[in-house]
Amino acid sequence: MIMVQEVQAPGPSERHDLDANDESASLLFDLSQRYGDTFRLTSQSRSNDSLVILNADDIRRVLQTNRGNYIKGIGIERVRVLLGNGLMASEGELWSRQRRLVQPAFHSQVIRSFSALMHQANVDLIDRWSGHAARGEPVNLTHDLSELALNIVLRALFGTDLDRLIDAKGCNPFDLLTSETRRDLPFAAKFRALTHHVLNMIAARRQEQRIEMDLLSTLMEVRDRDTGEAMPDRALLDELMTLIVAGHETTASALNWTWYLLSQNPQVEARLHSAIAEPASAPGPAEASSATAPYVEQVLQEALRLYPPGWLFTRRALADDVLGGFHVPAGTDVFICPYMLHRQTTHWDQPEVFDPLRFEPAAVDARHRFAYLPFSAGPRYCIGATFAMAEMTMHLAMVADRFQLRYDGTVPPAAEFQVNLRSRHDLHMRLVAR
Ligand code: HEM
Repeated sequence: MIMVQEVQAPGPSERHDLDANDESASLLFDLSQRYGDTFRLTSQSRSNDSLVILNADDIRRVLQTNRGNYIKGIGIERVRVLLGNGLMASEGELWSRQRRLVQPAFHSQVIRSFSALMHQANVDLIDRWSGHAARGEPVNLTHDLSELALNIVLRALFGTDLDRLIDAKGCNPFDLLTSETRRDLPFAAKFRALTHHVLNMIAARRQEQRIEMDLLSTLMEVRDRDTGEAMPDRALLDELMTLIVAGHETTASALNWTWYLLSQNPQVEARLHSAIAEPASAPGPAEASSATAPYVEQVLQEALRLYPPGWLFTRRALADDVLGGFHVPAGTDVFICPYMLHRQTTHWDQPEVFDPLRFEPAAVDARHRFAYLPFSAGPRYCIGATFAMAEMTMHLAMVADRFQLRYDGTVPPAAEFQVNLRSRHDLHMRLVAR
């Protein structure tokens, strides 16, 4: 007699290697139609199988209740080449020590102290866009949002040292992140070459005994509560490089999709305009995201549902487990796909419809907690989620107050399923002043 936990999940007989790319995305969509919530793929090139899980209870088991059995899975080696052993890629003791040390830097009070710089970055953007609006010229939304998000995360990290660097070099060396879109090995090499600028900033602060109100100083000053030790330089550098990339691309692409969705849904846009017209909703430089109307946040949450930048992530089982009633041998790479999860009819009525009211508190309470994972869940939940929401609500409320954005393309933008879920081509928008 076969025990239920020894039954293998169904899956195709052909071999496939899943990865964060377009081919894997179409394969996943196709296989979920054929095999349902849990399916297995035999690898072409590796000895371990892959398991795709779409059931919210199973996802909870992997990310939360049985999390000790799961480490980051396939693809993490490539992330490590780009980001080093920072929070995104580290494991075990190193990860828990670093998470403990970095977490206070993302406390909501610290994030509130970045409101002024977030506000200023949007004031500058609106000034530039006003010129475009007056001349009737479209803007390259994708490019401009990439620049905005990069500028905000770099200023939160390095404060005015960023201006010193730009003055010294005559340009911002980190612009590489917006000018180059590929995230391959040559890009990783160029990005890692930027570490010397960060090391110079650290050295200058030490020499001048200068403490600033930014993340760099916060991370330099933090002490391990058990040992009293500061973060070693290598770890500090890896965390900073991680935060630059993790804090830039995700936010930029979330906003890119948000504006596209708004341009296609005039009723949602009109409701957003009324929400931000309420007197208490105008975000000032000193205000946190909580000051803006709840609907602004709901619009963003709904955009993150349809287009979660982290559309696919992986874990690897350390020991045998059972998921969806199927046997999961040790070493299996488990794939969690928020993009598909967020469109499941089990949790979402008419999933293709853009409806921010799905995030009214009562609706959220009624839903499975693991049906919505734009920032993942469990202990490896995105450390920058509050930062990102503060930045995005501020941007959306300020810009929607000034302009309507009209999509300038003739066909709907195609999604590009890479490490992040981006638009395949830059989106251009016409601005209508309000
Ligand atoms: C809309 C914006 C963002 C989205 C959708 C997003 C999404 C995610 C997701 C899905 C993960 C988990 C990945 C996994 O477990 O494999 C993650 C982790 C992480 N994110 Fe974000 N993120 C965003 C913004 C940010 C920002 C602004 C920062 C920092 C400034 C940041 C820093 C990180 C870091 C350091 C981790 C690793 C945390 C750990 O493992 O301890 N993210 N993010």
